[in-house]
Amino acid sequence: MLFALTETQEMIRETARRFAREHLAPGAIRRDEFEEFPAEPLRELAKLGFMGMMVPEQWGGIGLDTVSYILAMEEIARVDASVAVIMSVHNSLACGGLYAAGTESLKSKYLRELSSGRALGAFALSEPEAGSDAANQHTTAVRDGDSYVLNGMKSWTTSGANADVIIVMAATDRAKGTKGISAFLVEKGTPGLSVAKKEKKMGIRSSDTVALAFSDCRIPITNRLGEEGEGFKFAMRILEAGRVGIAAQAVGIAQASLDASIKYARERKAFGKTLGEFQAIQLKLAEMATGVEAARLLMFHAASLKDQGRPFGKEASMAKLFASRTAVANALEAIQIHGGYGYVQEFQVERYLRDAKVTEIYEGTSEIQQLIIARSLLK
Ligand code: CAA
Repeated sequence: MLFALTETQEMIRETARRFAREHLAPGAIRRDEFEEFPAEPLRELAKLGFMGMMVPEQWGGIGLDTVSYILAMEEIARVDASVAVIMSVHNSLACGGLYAAGTESLKSKYLRELSSGRALGAFALSEPEAGSDAANQHTTAVRDGDSYVLNGMKSWTTSGANADVIIVMAATDRAKGTKGISAFLVEKGTPGLSVAKKEKKMGIRSSDTVALAFSDCRIPITNRLGEEGEGFKFAMRILEAGRVGIAAQAVGIAQASLDASIKYARERKAFGKTLGEFQAIQLKLAEMATGVEAARLLMFHAASLKDQGRPFGKEASMAKLFASRTAVANALEAIQIHGGYGYVQEFQVERYLRDAKVTEIYEGTSEIQQLIIARSLLK
């Protein structure tokens, strides 16, 4: 590996790898099939400190760097991408967002709960008419005395049904466009907040993705994150960090497809030889391995820039763009190498493809990553 890891980073990767093997592998197929939320694995992850990986110890986290975080994320995603996305949204968007923009009192009340894993976090930006065009927020937050009253609909909220704390973007002044959007923290159980729809998905099926309805949902003004009108920039900044995590999720899936293919190529015989002895298979494995390695380097690069406090938005988009493409390509090749066995549940590679696809869609589609990269090149 080009990047020299510290002892702590090596230890985190090893811990995550062991955890994934022991706690995630046994139930991954079942959870996917029955859309079973991974409550028990998440409790175990929390014991390792992995639900508050980058939150300082003062706020209940384990205060690690982004490189440690992506190493863990890759290992988790290599075995169960559903658990990985829950962990990613919780760490990068919920904990990261609250840590970056929360007041001391909001952090005291919620951040310790989140980073210890006693509470689960979600992030609600998208709406039925605000996906890639995230600025087109129709959900409103109207000030009323010491409260804001939220009305509207959020879509595609990862962990929305299970989350205890949700960071919600809403328009405080629609006339001001992106400068009229603000961020809020909404607690589960607040009257007026409800789950409107649970999505039936192609992949990452044990992670819940829901539409949330806000109907005269009243929250205290002290639950605002940052100033009024700063919500859009806040969301964009937080998503930069989130995309590094999704890149790591995609690298994990791409690696899993390669792992399965190598194993199968060693074991499976055809025409009196193992598959691995055929050049057609060797070429595929070489391409897959090169893709994973390149994606991993882009991911490390973005994470290292973030850890150094340098701008990393363009690099995060590059890492996500390339890693998600590699995850899909490798999963498809893994299925091809497995032949008919690749098309059935038991060999898992069909799940890798279903899970990989969404990495090209959420936290900004591939086309949005290209737009962000191009804007950065041309500015
Ligand atoms: N950091 C700080 N500020 C930023 C920023 C960033 N990364 N990106 C944009 N801004 C600022 C701009 O500088 C601009 O500020 P000024 O007006 O002061 O100049 C303001 O925000 C508006 O920016 P744009 O004009 O670029 O806004 P836009 O409407 O053209 O949108 C976009 C830009 C990149 C397309 C953005 O809408 C976007 O990222 N869309 C994709 C949304 C997305 O990723 N959604 C994912 C949902 S969350 C999710 O999927 C999680 C999950 O559950 C798994």
